[in-house]
Amino acid sequence: MEFLDIMNISHRYMEILNPSTPEKVIKLGKLLRLEEGKRVIDFGCGCAEPLLLWAEQFGITGIGIDLSEEFCDRARKKLARRGLSDRIEIVCCNGADYVFEEGAFDVATCIGASFIFGGYQQTIQAMKRAVHQNGRLGIGEPYWLSNRVDPEYVQQQAGIHTEAELVRMARDEGFELEYIIRASRDDWDRYLSDHWFGLIRWLEENPNHPDYEQVFNFLRSDQDQYLQYQRQYMGWAMYCLAPGKSKTTGGRL
Ligand SMILES: C[S@@+](CC[C@H](N)C(=O)[O-])C[C@H]1O[C@@H](n2cnc3c(N)ncnc32)[C@H](O)[C@@H]1O
Repeated sequence: MEFLDIMNISHRYMEILNPSTPEKVIKLGKLLRLEEGKRVIDFGCGCAEPLLLWAEQFGITGIGIDLSEEFCDRARKKLARRGLSDRIEIVCCNGADYVFEEGAFDVATCIGASFIFGGYQQTIQAMKRAVHQNGRLGIGEPYWLSNRVDPEYVQQQAGIHTEAELVRMARDEGFELEYIIRASRDDWDRYLSDHWFGLIRWLEENPNHPDYEQVFNFLRSDQDQYLQYQRQYMGWAMYCLAPGKSKTTGGRL
């Protein structure tokens, strides 16, 4: 079984595929100045819950890109049920290969999927090409809660930064950190528990599946990693980035 197949199983019973809530996603939309007619591009859109909430709440139009056919299928069906298919388009492909019209969007988002572009700074570089000069970015990203993380865990989790490093990278790309919407301990517990709920349901439904052991081992290691390391060392937040305000560099680079 491929990693994406396990992700599809573990995310079966959730709509927001991150440690967040509909209220926090809507708040991010407000901070990104979303309103009727604004155009949004969302990289790694999952089941398109953020785009759907913003379309219903603010009247945006947009494009969501995701690699998982199952998530794209879920997203399209959900958008059709809610009468939003004409506002939100779903494209199933590698986000890094998607050719978008440069500067055509008011807002670009990537919520929990910066691995698409190989890291946080590379994600800002890609997203800023999608938005016009006054466009804003919304990025969901994990970060180290302190500088004293168990080295064994740091080695397993390449590409995670402290928030001080994240803000430096945003500034280097010509953006100001305007707002942080942080995941709470409850958000993390909900997200990880939803994983385990999905995995255990699948194990109960598929006792004779040839990949049973693989899914079972994934469940156990996911739980051990969360309870031993992730809960105490890793935070997660959505960052609202506004166009740069520096008079010396003249804003966006
Ligand atoms: C943690 S989930 C976040 C989903 C969504 N942003 C949300 O908040 O509900 C990460 C998403 O990235 C997608 N993904 C993984 N690799 C990708 C790639 N190369 N290009 C596009 N999407 C990708 C996964 O299928 C998954 O839907």
